[in-house]
Amino acid sequence: MTRPNHGGNLNWAASIANCPTSLILDFSASINPLGPPLSVIQAIQDHIYSVKAYPDPAYPELTKALARWHQLPPEYILPGNGSAELLTWAAWELSHLDLTHIMTPAFSDYLRAAKTFNIKLNACPLDVKTGKWKVEANPALTQGLILNNPHNPSGRLLQREQILPYLEAFALVVVDEAFMDFLPSSEEQSLINVVTDYPNLVILRSLTKFYSLPGLRIGYAIAHPDRLRRWQLWRDPWPINTLAVHAAMAAIEDKIFAQKTLLWLKPTREEVFSSLQTLTPFYPLPSCANFLLVHTSIPGSSLQEILLKEYQILIRDCLSFPELGENYFRIAILSKENNQKLLTALTQVVADDRRI
Ligand SMILES: Cc1ncc(COP(=O)(O)O)c(C=O)c1O
Repeated sequence: MTRPNHGGNLNWAASIANCPTSLILDFSASINPLGPPLSVIQAIQDHIYSVKAYPDPAYPELTKALARWHQLPPEYILPGNGSAELLTWAAWELSHLDLTHIMTPAFSDYLRAAKTFNIKLNACPLDVKTGKWKVEANPALTQGLILNNPHNPSGRLLQREQILPYLEAFALVVVDEAFMDFLPSSEEQSLINVVTDYPNLVILRSLTKFYSLPGLRIGYAIAHPDRLRRWQLWRDPWPINTLAVHAAMAAIEDKIFAQKTLLWLKPTREEVFSSLQTLTPFYPLPSCANFLLVHTSIPGSSLQEILLKEYQILIRDCLSFPELGENYFRIAILSKENNQKLLTALTQVVADDRRI
């Protein structure tokens, strides 16, 4: 089996750990451990027979519910089969420009989409240690920009004010906000409230991480209605299944789950962060998301292999991010109990340097 580009590949992990997939403790995919919310499971159960009918290709109920949530007209919303599906259409539009700037290290699916449509990319490195990042537009070219805020894999957050000038300078700006729900409203830096002012802005949002639904596939784009109408004409008629529609509507209504998640995340992330700081080979970077990027003096892939073979724990190596390579790994923040399992395993690996 080849090494996966994404986190969360349990079949691959189980083949290395030589155990069933159910025994793998997965820190490699950044999924909220409190989910899925019970309200979502209930909605799926209640609508199980909805699979007997085709969904309405306009997904009117879900679109309206998402629009109400974000206080936008429904024409600004297009639900999709995970945000990854919508990224493909954003990439198709970027491919018509002369050049697209991309914040790196970048989520590998941007590169998949860019390669599919022969997008000319210019890498703009984020300094993961300081959070410093900038991009310069060349006025002689038509240009696009792909940003990820908060940034995966570093967990860094760009301030809204830093991004706004780019909306004046670039023909198309795609901002992937897949992890923005993990920030409390007083700290989030979403561009949703300016989307009606900028027809060249596309915001991608995911419901799979925060609501723990990666297997169900559900996300949405927020952009100018003309653009979303074009995408709707290009794509398959029924990209989202009926259960995902009902699950998504229940999820965004569940304010108690959202509140619980925010109350859990900050102190738990701080605990993991400070425990990692006490282990000399590791240097965790500050993160505002539900994962931590950790600098390591033990090669990331060796550490991953030891943790898999000896503890059935899967961390995310960073080999698919060429800028990070063996010097980093990424971990999701999970329950206190599971975080402790990882920290104990890391402490033992560090103590027994014959294994490294
Ligand atoms: C930054 C980022 N954007 C988008 C996605 C895809 O999310 P979805 O499950 O909504 O397709 C991921 C998944 O890992 C991601 O890390």
